[in-house]
Amino acid sequence: MTSQLHKKGEAWSARFSEPVSDLVKRYTASVFFDKRLALFDIEGSLAHADMLAAQGIISAQDLADIQRGMTQIRGEIEGGQFEWQLDLEDVHLNIEARLTALIGDAGKRLHTGRSRNDQVATDIRLWLRSEIDNIGTHLGDLRRALLDLAEQHSATILPGFTHLQVAQPVTFGHHLMAYFEMFSRDAERMLDVRRRVNRLPLGAAALAGTSYPIDRERVAATLGFEEVCTNSLDAVSDRDFAIEFTAAAALVMTHVSRFSEELVLWMSPRVGFIDLADRFCTGSSIMPQKKNPDVPELARGKTGRVNGHLIALLTLMKGQPLAYNKDNQEDKEPLFDTVDTVIDTLRIFADMVPGIKVREANMRNAALQGFSTATDLADYLVKKGLPFRDAHEIVAHAVKICSDRDIDLADLSLAELQKFSPLVGEDVFEYLTLEGSVASRNHIGGTAPAQVQRAIAAARAKLAK
Ligand code: ARG
Repeated sequence: MTSQLHKKGEAWSARFSEPVSDLVKRYTASVFFDKRLALFDIEGSLAHADMLAAQGIISAQDLADIQRGMTQIRGEIEGGQFEWQLDLEDVHLNIEARLTALIGDAGKRLHTGRSRNDQVATDIRLWLRSEIDNIGTHLGDLRRALLDLAEQHSATILPGFTHLQVAQPVTFGHHLMAYFEMFSRDAERMLDVRRRVNRLPLGAAALAGTSYPIDRERVAATLGFEEVCTNSLDAVSDRDFAIEFTAAAALVMTHVSRFSEELVLWMSPRVGFIDLADRFCTGSSIMPQKKNPDVPELARGKTGRVNGHLIALLTLMKGQPLAYNKDNQEDKEPLFDTVDTVIDTLRIFADMVPGIKVREANMRNAALQGFSTATDLADYLVKKGLPFRDAHEIVAHAVKICSDRDIDLADLSLAELQKFSPLVGEDVFEYLTLEGSVASRNHIGGTAPAQVQRAIAAARAKLAK
């Protein structure tokens, strides 16, 4: 035996005259976080060994030993008995050392035609692919929850805002469906990213490929990769797939954060549009009356860390010459935390949305203030033949007068309204109601209850596919 992996340094020790210090050991080790990749590392190793045997590079007996050893190691890891050693630096060397301890020389043959560089890139891709699928499931759950709530409130009216000023009445179902659209695009984006994650780096070896007669297509098929990375230097070095995943994740969080901002606002007693179930809120240790929307606030806050991870990964990559550099070991913690944050957040929101208590009367009262049907009055005058700009001016004048008198447009009498324009007829009051306003916006993408119901039905059909 010329080398023993479990004595760190000996795998490459002939080249070195002194061991690394404990601080450097700790600084360079990744095992305490990359052990999270262990089962994917084993999966990748088994696919590699299977190919080596099929190509006659290792014997059938070696393969059988490797499979047996890996089965035991998997059991040890799942059972929590595996002894992770800092001395062995990372997940790859820990597992390989244990394999060799269990099965001897066959364990030392596993690394033939492979490097930790293509191994780690493969592990991350396998892991990320499965997490993207999990995120897809949780996005689906949240979207379904939004659809259910939207369906209950396809005709509930609240003020729609621009500049956070009352603009026009909208239906709450329509408002919720806006978030449904955002999360649907997020799901689409994740699937798109998945295609580029789902490519095989193994075979690139350290950077230049390998002199053994390997079969990369076979490994790709075993591991369910759609394609093989076609340039070895690129395969071991670029982490653009991790960056674009994190960008997609940052958008998921951004959408959650916008929704959170609204939930917080809506729950303020000054607004009072909704109430969140108690289990998503906490009280105050000093103010007995408080019920704080902690979950949406925290989600809004956690969006910052995911945005931070995106910048961390972009910065990690930008200065790296080809090919692999140790910098890339720093890709893992941001990725892990991004996945954990997104998944926890989506799970909590999918659970929280069905419990949103909607205070319909408060929404309606708010929509009755702020002249939300002013545009409807202008549109009414246009339908009676007035050019839109003139109608806009007349209604602005009427709003000013109502505002001074602290009344709504609908509180004006017919005679008073006719003073603003002789075109006003008795039918005007239908146009000034909230229901009339929303019902009139009856086209694809409009807020009319009929359109909201259509959008919900179309969304359900799409989700069921
Ligand atoms: N722990 C390393 C990483 O995460 C594995 C690859 C190490 N390769 C190397 N040549 N040192 O990137």
